[in-house]
Formats: sequence, structure tokens, C-alpha cells
Amino acid sequence: MLQILTLLIHYFLFLSSNAIDLPQISTQISPNTEFVIFGTRHGNRNPEQFLSGIDRDWGQEGLLELTSIGKRQAYGLGLELRKFIGNLTSNNYNATEVKYYSSSANRCQMTLQVALAGLHPPQAWGEWNRQKFASWSPIPYTISDPLLRMYSVPSCKQSDKVWAPIDNDQIPELENLKTDNLRVLEYLSAETGWNLTGNLGQAADLADNVIQMDFYNTSYPKWLAQPELDGINGTELKNTILEFAEIHPRTCAVYYPCRYLMGGLWLNDVIDKLSDANTTKNALKVVGYASHTEITLSVMKLMGIERDEVTTSAGFVIEFRRRPSVAVRLLNHDPTPIDTHVIYPANLTKELADVQEADGFIRLADFVRISYSDWPKKCDAPSCAKDDPSNYDTESSGSQPKYPQLFVIGLMVIGLLIILD
Ligand SMILES: *[C@@H]1O[C@H](CO)[C@@H](O)[C@H](O)[C@H]1NC(C)=O
Ligand SMILES: *[C@@H]1O[C@H](CO)[C@@H](O)[C@H](O)[C@H]1NC(C)=O
Ligand SMILES: *[C@@H]1O[C@H](CO)[C@@H](O)[C@H](O)[C@H]1NC(C)=O
Ligand SMILES: *[C@@H]1O[C@H](CO)[C@@H](O)[C@H](O)[C@H]1NC(C)=O
Ligand SMILES: *[C@@H]1O[C@H](CO)[C@@H](O)[C@H](O)[C@H]1NC(C)=O
Ligand SMILES: *[C@@H]1O[C@H](CO)[C@@H](O)[C@H](O)[C@H]1NC(C)=O
Ligand SMILES: *[C@@H]1O[C@H](CO)[C@@H](O)[C@H](O)[C@H]1NC(C)=O
Repeated sequence: MLQILTLLIHYFLFLSSNAIDLPQISTQISPNTEFVIFGTRHGNRNPEQFLSGIDRDWGQEGLLELTSIGKRQAYGLGLELRKFIGNLTSNNYNATEVKYYSSSANRCQMTLQVALAGLHPPQAWGEWNRQKFASWSPIPYTISDPLLRMYSVPSCKQSDKVWAPIDNDQIPELENLKTDNLRVLEYLSAETGWNLTGNLGQAADLADNVIQMDFYNTSYPKWLAQPELDGINGTELKNTILEFAEIHPRTCAVYYPCRYLMGGLWLNDVIDKLSDANTTKNALKVVGYASHTEITLSVMKLMGIERDEVTTSAGFVIEFRRRPSVAVRLLNHDPTPIDTHVIYPANLTKELADVQEADGFIRLADFVRISYSDWPKKCDAPSCAKDDPSNYDTESSGSQPKYPQLFVIGLMVIGLLIILD
């Protein structure tokens, strides 16, 4: 049983190594869309540790801080969002119509600030210092870690319990990844001086360094370009390293307990805002959130978006309309890969795809029914991580599981519960 689980999770984790073929042109907003929500992972950031022995002319911002590439990605996101929403809200910041949220992490706040510079270039009465800040005005936002950085909320005790074994590679899936790549990990440990076999987080750090080296045109060290590893050339070695990028956060999003914990509250907030838009309780036109991999990917998966990674500055966009029916449309957004950005229809779970209308919209009631989790908001509650994925299956009547992926994930949960026991 565990072996089957392991294979399946292995498949999920390494699925992300296949780059997505991104469309060239963004989807146009529906003429009936009245309200838009976007969520994004922060832009490109520095690694958690810098590789030594390379000729590095980047990283001055400091470890884990947003980089110049990250700022450009975030600005590209803001510009594309403005193109997308058109005149849904004014270019100038209008406190009644827009609301933004960020995790407390510097990289998320900075990403949101730059994205909002692209989304809200001040005009006419909004201009205030054209000589120095031709197209920028400060835009306020709310910092909410329970929504957007649950793993660092101290009172969320369940978070540690669910997250720690992932972070320490103490689950069979990650142990098997290590075993399968042992030779490469040992070689890389010797070359980097990092203990990659000790913790795959170190392999993720190496992947982050390689990503930066590519963005900033840094020459590869010889051990990477021409590895002394039988049967593995530089290209293959690099691809193997990149497969470890964000390995722990992506593993979290694959597990129901971790997924709910990280994304459940945010999902509730999204649903509350959509319900408010339906009942016109407020005049909101745009809401945006900036967060991290495990949180953004988790909330996307909880919403029914099929996706196994979010690169820096990638995330989701939701359109809401009331006519001709109360409905939402789920879109992805991705950088291509730095200054430009694309917004396009997301791949959806079969359950959602089955109720999709011709123009891609899904009735709000269906969306809420399918994606809503009755998740206890207090994360130190003992029931926090015991959300039962079989909730999702109550719609199916036959003995054959209607939603194979959910069934598989259900199996994984059982696996994890066994492991955590
Ligand atoms: C959507 O699914 C298609 C077909 O499986 C795949 O080629 C494509 O990469 C997927 N797109 C995303 C954004 O996941
Ligand atoms: C907003 O843009 C749409 C589409 O371009 C146009 O039909 C509409 O009149 C505009 N609304 C306002 C208030 O300018
Ligand atoms: C801001 O939005 C509100 C609500 O839609 C609207 O009544 C007001 O006119 C807007 N303000 C400006 C300056 O456009
Ligand atoms: C790497 O980490 C593992 C686990 O913490 C430890 O057992 C091992 O001794 C470490 N190896 C080195 C070379 O430090
Ligand atoms: C890296 O090289 C490419 C191709 O020459 C260039 O377009 C890009 O601007 C360079 N990147 C940086 C950060 O200098
Ligand atoms: C590396 O190996 C792969 C698979 O054997 C091969 O397709 C590729 O052309 C090789 N690349 C180089 C640069 O030799
Ligand atoms: C939307 O609002 C209408 C009118 O208030 C209500 O009847 C309907 O149930 C709401 N739909 C959803 C999905 O909340």
C-alpha cells in the first residue's frame, strides 16, 4: 500500500518538472465580469543560502529577499492585470473599490507593491510628484499571516505537526526521492559542501541558485556544466537539480492535511468575498493577495485548479459575474518569464469541468459546493488537519470513485495519517 502511495506521490511531485506550455495571449475579461480576485506567489527571490565558488553578481538584496527579476515579474503581473480588467476600476487607487492583502514576508509585500504600481498608475488628480514618480503612488494593503502565511502563525500548533515531517524529509515519498537520486545528491553534496542527502531543502536551495544563475547569466561551475558522473551530462544534471525546486512546499500542497491547513482560510475568504459580491454587500471590484508557494498552490488546488507548481509571480485570477447567471471563471496567471505575463484558463478537476458553461464560467453555487470546505478556522483546534477528503465524494453515488485524483489524494491522506501516527 505504502509503495503504491509512494509511486503516486512521486508522480505528482515530478509532474512539475514538465514545463507548462504557456499561451502567448491573455484571455479577455468577460463583458459581464463585475469583480476580479487575484492571488499570486511572490516574484523571484534570492535562495536561502548562496552557493560559493561561483562568480555571482546578484543577491545583494540578501537571502530570501525579492530580486530585481522578481520586481520585474511583479510589475509585469500588474500591467497584465490592468490590461485584463480594463476600466473595471479606475487606474487611480479607489479605496472603496479595491482591497489588497499580503503575507508578512518582505518578498510578498514588495511583490504586491510593485504589482500594484503596474495595476494602479496614478492619473490626473492621482498624480502627486510627476518629476520623481511619474507612474507610481503608494497603495495600502493588509498584512494577514493567518490568511497568507499560516505556517508562521505561532498559535497554529497543528501547522508544525503537519509541516515538520515534510520539512525534515520524514515521509516515505521524500525518503524515496533521496534513495532514487542518491548518487547525484552525494555528488552534489561533495561539490557544494552542503548536505543534500541530509535534507532535500538543501537540494531546493541549490535549485534556487541555478535558477538565479540562469536569470543573471552566471557561468556554471565545472562540476555542474561538465559533471564527473557516469552517464549524466550537464543538461541532465541541471534538470535533476531543478526538480527539487520548492520540493517541500509542493509536497505540502499534495497532502490534504497540509493543503487545507495552508489554504483553507484563504479559500473561505475568497468564497466570502464572492458571496458578498453576489449580494452586493460592498462595491469591491478588485481584490488581490500575495503569498507563498505552499499557500498559493494549496488554495488553487482546493478551488479545483489542476496544477502542480507555481513559479515565482504565478497564481490565479477569478472573474465573478451576475448575468446571465451568478458564476465564476478560474484562470491562471504566469510570467513569460520576466517582464511579460499571461492570464489564461486554468485546467480544472473533472468535477468542476463537468459543470463548466461554454464560456468557461461555473455557477457560483457549484463552485462553492465543490470547493468549499467546512474547515475549522482556528488552526490549533485538534480537528484542524482531519478534514475528510471523502466529503468531496458525497456527490458520487456509484461505487466507482467519480474523481480519480481526489480518490488518489484520499489514499495519500490515509498514508500520511499512518505515517504521522
Ligand atoms: C493543462 O492540461 C494540458 C493537457 O493535459 C497540459 O498540456 C497543460 O500543460 C496543462 N496546463 C496547465 C496550466 O497546467
Ligand atoms: C469601460 O470599457 C468598456 C469596454 O471598453 C466600455 O464599454 C464601457 O463604456 C467603459 N465604461 C466606462 C465607465 O468608461
Ligand atoms: C470610487 O468608487 C466609488 C464606488 O464605486 C465611486 O462611487 C467613486 O466615484 C469612486 N471615486 C472616484 C474618484 O472615482
Ligand atoms: C547529513 O545529514 C544527515 C542527517 O542529518 C547526517 O546523518 C549525516 O551525517 C550528514 N552528513 C554529513 C556529511 O554531514
Ligand atoms: C542575460 O542574457 C540575456 C541574453 O543575452 C539577456 O537578454 C538578459 O538581459 C541577460 N540578463 C541579465 C540579468 O543581465
Ligand atoms: C545529454 O544527454 C541527453 C540524454 O542522453 C541528450 O539528449 C542530450 O543531447 C545531452 N546533452 C548534451 C549537451 O550532451
Ligand atoms: C446570489 O444571490 C441571490 C440573491 O440574493 C441568491 O438567491 C442566491 O442564492 C445567491 N447565490 C449564491 C451562489 O450565493
